[in-house]
Amino acid sequence: MKTTISIIKADVGSIVGHHVVAQPLFEIAKDRLENAQKRGLINSFYVFNAGDDLELLMVHEKGERNSEIHALAWETFQQAAEKAKDLKLYGAGQDLLKTAFSGNIRGMGPGVAEMEIEERGSDPIVVFAADKTSAGSFNYPLFRTFADPMNTAGLVIDLSMFGGFKFEVLDTKENRKVVLKCPEETYELIGLIGSSTRYSVSRVWRAHDDLPCAVTSTTKLSLIAGKYVGKDDPVALVRAQHGLPAVGEILVPFLHTYFVEGWMRGSHWGPLMPVSLSDSKCTVFDGPPRMVAVGFQICNGRIASDSSDTPMVEDLFDDPAFEMARREAVEMAGVLRRMGEFQPARLSEEAMEYTTLPRILEKLKSRFQPA
Ligand code: F6R
Ligand code: MG
Ligand code: MG
Repeated sequence: MKTTISIIKADVGSIVGHHVVAQPLFEIAKDRLENAQKRGLINSFYVFNAGDDLELLMVHEKGERNSEIHALAWETFQQAAEKAKDLKLYGAGQDLLKTAFSGNIRGMGPGVAEMEIEERGSDPIVVFAADKTSAGSFNYPLFRTFADPMNTAGLVIDLSMFGGFKFEVLDTKENRKVVLKCPEETYELIGLIGSSTRYSVSRVWRAHDDLPCAVTSTTKLSLIAGKYVGKDDPVALVRAQHGLPAVGEILVPFLHTYFVEGWMRGSHWGPLMPVSLSDSKCTVFDGPPRMVAVGFQICNGRIASDSSDTPMVEDLFDDPAFEMARREAVEMAGVLRRMGEFQPARLSEEAMEYTTLPRILEKLKSRFQPA
């Protein structure tokens, strides 16, 4: 029997602007998922937040893109959005872009990352969830983890990784994808995913046996909605250890901050800050963009739980080892914000085409003269 890990997320409204998910919404999500667990639809779950995004982590045996699992997430978000409306929370229902559910939540607004696996003897999983940024923000850490021997000692030391890893890269502009194999195609891979505003790593497999290793959500809300609706606040699932990068090799790219697109109005480069779940709430200039990481073990189709049947989930960035990255992020935030609306603090003109900025050009159209 195969086990599926699904993380499905949406911003359905938050408290004090785009800051954090409000408590009543967590309660709705927990009640719904608990009920689904009692009915046997899912085996375990964990509800958390990345800033203003409600994150539903579910473990089940229904496979990827299962309509019952997606319906559960969709109905949970709908109910939470109703509550957010009643409480006049900010941006109630923001990410629920379509109304009629037809079996697959993909393309309706919420972000999805799912991985169906054959359980190994022991299967450690890391879930990443970010706020105020987009799917391309996983390019850098996933490249470091699965393709850079200076990051992942196992690529040099563990013979079972010598065959390398395959990366599926999505071209979000042309809606097409390509698979590249590392180390042979490292330069081609960097050539593409270095353009993190356009290309995002969507899946990673171990090359010699096609073992699924990582998956990210790659939703482009603006492409679904046909207009600017904020950034896509992505999620990722990464499998660790025993012939795969160790948990520590998956986390070490976050020893330093790096720049991602998003932040205020989804229109700026910002320093990514790895934070604990308790600091998973955006403030300064609606940021800085934040990432949380939770880790757990898969055990017989469930999240390994304690004696009271509570899933054991570790808050991986709740650690002084990431203080340097957090301090750097704050310092870099200071440098960028001093530049205000001047590039490179603000995204390129091409990226701004997806915002409301073109209206300025429209307004000035008749006043432009040939030069
Ligand atoms: C970015 C984001 C926020 C909002 C900003 C303005 O993804 O959600 O930075 O863009 O707070 O929000 P509105 O236009 O709702 O006032
Ligand atoms: Mg929001
Ligand atoms: Mg968000």
